[in-house]
Amino acid sequence: MTLRDALRIPASEVTDETVYHDRRRLLAAFASLPALSLAGCADAEPPPSPRTNVTPAQARGGFATDEAPTRYEDVTSYNNFYEFGTGKQDPSRAAKTLRTSPWSVEVAGECAKPGTISLDDLVRGLAPQERIYRLRCVEGWSMVIPWLGVPLGEILKRFQPTANAKFVAFTTLADREQMPGLRFRSINWPYREGLRIDEAMHPLTLLATGLYGKPLPQQNGAPLRLVVPWKYGFKSIKSIVRIEFTERMPKTAWNDLQPREYGFFSNVNPEVDHPRWSQKTERRISGDGASRLFPERIATRMFNGYAEQVASMYSGMDLKRWY
Ligand code: MTE
Repeated sequence: MTLRDALRIPASEVTDETVYHDRRRLLAAFASLPALSLAGCADAEPPPSPRTNVTPAQARGGFATDEAPTRYEDVTSYNNFYEFGTGKQDPSRAAKTLRTSPWSVEVAGECAKPGTISLDDLVRGLAPQERIYRLRCVEGWSMVIPWLGVPLGEILKRFQPTANAKFVAFTTLADREQMPGLRFRSINWPYREGLRIDEAMHPLTLLATGLYGKPLPQQNGAPLRLVVPWKYGFKSIKSIVRIEFTERMPKTAWNDLQPREYGFFSNVNPEVDHPRWSQKTERRISGDGASRLFPERIATRMFNGYAEQVASMYSGMDLKRWY
């Protein structure tokens, strides 16, 4: 089973038109990133990246968009969450069995303050922000989604990562009782993802707890998921129960399954094709009710259109090699 097999848009999934009007704008501005050292990566790993500074103006430019948001019905009924099946509509039907409260997250590895913490404590004192981000799936469809969440870096700082923390690994809950898809070996469970520490600390990287001003529905990764808008959608891991700071590049679920097809970085890049299909264009499922039937085909942009904010993290890296 590949993502492509599982992610087609059958005409039967088209639903009535409703367009989201209530678009709010992001107000937050960011200063600079914490000075975490990336020196000392092993030879087998990519070169250390320069520190990224995002000016408030750049941040505002990257966090807002005039593109039509995808309808709430489509965002919440056309999903990938293999723990609940590989069909696009399986998660919205099956994920009601996911118990999202109480929820806690274990934070481990290269940090001064590891521990298991409730979701409430994890986000305590951090006001959720709205970020309207493009999400581009490796399969070639894309959406524009008003997320609600907190910058991941704000949370990670609380655990005081050490200088050895070069990467951050994330793990999804794997409970056969709540997740019927775990009976199938579509993935080597649990679902795992990872980011380099500078990617994790980047102001664009969000730990989302809601969308469209409401708490996350189960099928979208309740109660908390990652959103990394310049990477293919599969990096945005759902229903996270574990975060680990690591010195070595962590194993990730899709790379584990198909290393030639899914790399660790998985930055959206129209110049690097998937081995079996082009990544040059995408089908935008927009606010138009007809868009699921006849999605607009548009050019995919480097880093999903966030190059100004993130490209400097990869300067000097061969992005064909580190796909
Ligand atoms: N996280 C988990 N735990 N399991 C999954 O199957 N699918 C990924 C990602 N996160 C997935 C996951 C993929 S392939 C995509 S494209 C996005 O979730 C889809 O997010 P959405 O359903 O909210 O649009």
